[in-house]
Amino acid sequence: MIDAETMLDRIAAADTLGDLESLRVAALGKAGSVTAMLKSLGGMDAETRATEGPKIHALRERVTSALADRKSALENAELERKLGTERVDLSLPAAESVSGTVHPVSQVMDELAEIFADMGFAVAEGPEIETQWYNFTALNMPENHPARAMQDTFYLEPREGETEARVLRTHTSPVQIRSMEANGAPIRVIAPGRVYRSDSDATHTPMFHQVEGLVIDRAITLGHLKWTLETFLKAFFERDDVVLRMRPSYFPFTEPSAEVDVGWSMERGRRVVGGQEGWMEVLGSGMVHPRVIANCGLDPDEWQGFAFGCGIDRLAMLKYGMDDLRAFFDGDIRWLRHYGFRALDVPTLSGGVGA
Ligand code: DAH
Repeated sequence: MIDAETMLDRIAAADTLGDLESLRVAALGKAGSVTAMLKSLGGMDAETRATEGPKIHALRERVTSALADRKSALENAELERKLGTERVDLSLPAAESVSGTVHPVSQVMDELAEIFADMGFAVAEGPEIETQWYNFTALNMPENHPARAMQDTFYLEPREGETEARVLRTHTSPVQIRSMEANGAPIRVIAPGRVYRSDSDATHTPMFHQVEGLVIDRAITLGHLKWTLETFLKAFFERDDVVLRMRPSYFPFTEPSAEVDVGWSMERGRRVVGGQEGWMEVLGSGMVHPRVIANCGLDPDEWQGFAFGCGIDRLAMLKYGMDDLRAFFDGDIRWLRHYGFRALDVPTLSGGVGA
């Protein structure tokens, strides 16, 4: 039988998990050497057992922990080796069968950026988790204002030390406030992004996309608003016969407020934007409320402006002919192949924004 130190040395020197397992069996297995020592305790007289027992048990402990130590060392070394040698090369071209497409929503956002950049607008962004101040209060919707109930808001659990719950932004309008605060006036921005409302059916999903527009300058009028929207919608739908109709409406952050409809007509059995056989609503807009301008630290006697908010998913559906909003977020590769855009089809005004 090998002595204890030799056994422990061999365990510590084992090169592979297989070798280690053989050593374990040789020591602690049914016919193992340590097992045999443990068995021999039964045949000892009481005195010998009293001195040998603790030694044998201690040896079993040392062998067990030496085996465990070596095992984890070998496993770590194996993991290190794998991490060091197995690499994913993200620069390799994807197989044809898995190559993706640009989602229509991303495509439309790119189109919007292109169209508005041509009119001198920058693209602004804001957080999707928003404070109630930015999402509501600064937009002239104080607490208990009935307009807060117009939108089915997702409230977050307040974090420690927070006195007020934050919300998932219900619209892109808070970016108006953030842009004015950050950049002052004059300002021309669009802010595309995700928004959230607790609502779900064929035409509503809990997350959807909007684009906000904001212009603040001196002597801005409703005429500027109407021209901007008309220019935008004609460029977006790539038709000169896009007709707008503005209806008086109410939004807390604009005064006056208008809802904007575009004319549609039937072409090959489908409703398309253009002409005026009927009307459909496409966006909300108005002159920025003086109180909103003041909330951003600007003087409303000096600065005026207009704002608008528009559903991007809806724009995409109208332009590219989808009829179920939910398919936008199913991630079905067949739908994406059918409606998606190739990565290099970058929209340009000269090439066509919907290339
Ligand atoms: N924030 C509004 C909504 O989500 C849309 C909107 C209406 C935005 C009028 C505006 C505006 O900027 O002027 O329903």
